[in-house]
Amino acid sequence: MKITGFSCGGFKNLKDISMTPNERLNILIGENAQGKTNLIEAIWICTGVKSFRSTKDKDMIDLKGERADITLTFEDNARTQTIKYSVMRQDIKNKLITLNGVKLPLPSRLFGNLRCVVFTPEDLSLSKGSPDNRRQFLDLSISQIKGRYASVVQRYNNILEQRNTLLKTIAFGRAQADDLDVWDIQLAKLGSYISMMRYNYSKKLGQVCAGLFDDISKGRENLSLYYQSTVFNELEERTDYSGGLADEYLQRLSVSRNEDIRLGFTTKGVHRDDLCGIINGVPLREFASQGQHRSAALVMKLSQAYILTEETDDPPVILLDDVMSELDRSRQEFVINKIRGMQVFITCCDMNELISSADGAIYNIENGRVGLRDASPPRK
Ligand SMILES: Nc1ncnc2c1ncn2[C@@H]1O[C@H](COP(=O)(O)OP(=O)(O)OP(=O)(O)O)[C@@H](O)[C@H]1O
Ligand SMILES: [Mg+2]
Repeated sequence: MKITGFSCGGFKNLKDISMTPNERLNILIGENAQGKTNLIEAIWICTGVKSFRSTKDKDMIDLKGERADITLTFEDNARTQTIKYSVMRQDIKNKLITLNGVKLPLPSRLFGNLRCVVFTPEDLSLSKGSPDNRRQFLDLSISQIKGRYASVVQRYNNILEQRNTLLKTIAFGRAQADDLDVWDIQLAKLGSYISMMRYNYSKKLGQVCAGLFDDISKGRENLSLYYQSTVFNELEERTDYSGGLADEYLQRLSVSRNEDIRLGFTTKGVHRDDLCGIINGVPLREFASQGQHRSAALVMKLSQAYILTEETDDPPVILLDDVMSELDRSRQEFVINKIRGMQVFITCCDMNELISSADGAIYNIENGRVGLRDASPPRK
């Protein structure tokens, strides 16, 4: 998958941008606050997934402007497509989004067309930080492969919220414990499906990560990942998510029901699960060093791109926002080597040796404007 055209104006500080990206490497160099992350964000928004920065709609528009417009053309291995995305201040709720000229009712309908993997400095704490980030990582990775999955997670979250409200109402004596039954049945069905999907994805992820980690640690360390369920002891070979698995899930909810009522929230379920790792025989989360966490996070994101390539038969576009400066030389090289063959957008503050020798287009970004700086020297 390649982005072949990108233009943008009025999105945050970005002005009159019109680029024909290089089919491999695009390096955007600019000082702080010039618009590097804004540009990565504008591309990301065209994937149909919520901004990785959680930008509100009205904040997409330049503070002094009336509208933000993005036009992006990309080709996958079947055809060329164009996304237009406009947000107007006077009608903020009604974004104007089209795919190949056809109006879409919601940004999420863009999902599954342009596929990107974005990597920001925050992602470097993927393995160390809260389980919530890892669950989101799994959910996004799976929904990039199976679009329907995202709506299942959304339904699960809605029902979970209603169940939690009811738990508090019961604790105040204004509802009966039996009133939970209807929510539990739905939660069990959706939760079983999510568990199964996350388990299978984690298994694949673990295999790819193990190979990459061996590589990044030069064969000195090994990493294994596994999905830790708060509901099931064993998910291997289980596919009966609307049968036996859902029954077990329901049983688990019923066992913890009294505790849930006492605490006012649902203590067991996929919203409490985690993606865990073992590094050289010890739990990753508690015992890994800073550098090991970084390496683990890097290989997890790279594996996401690899699995996506395998499943869709088309490599995603890689967006690396300010990540290089956070990595030492050998990890920088590792990343560059592993994403060879994919189209990449890299932002950074300074030219560095590795980048200056890279084969691709180099752009300057200053005060929201982008200019081609240099065509890189031919490869030796
Ligand atoms: N809605 C908006 N309207 C106008 N400017 C905005 C808006 N939202 C953000 N900005 C500004 O855009 C500028 C560029 O932000 P961005 O995050 O892209 O910088 P950056 O180049 O990635 O910097 P850094 O190297 O520090 O990460 C900032 O000065 C920010 O205040
Ligand atoms: Mg930035």
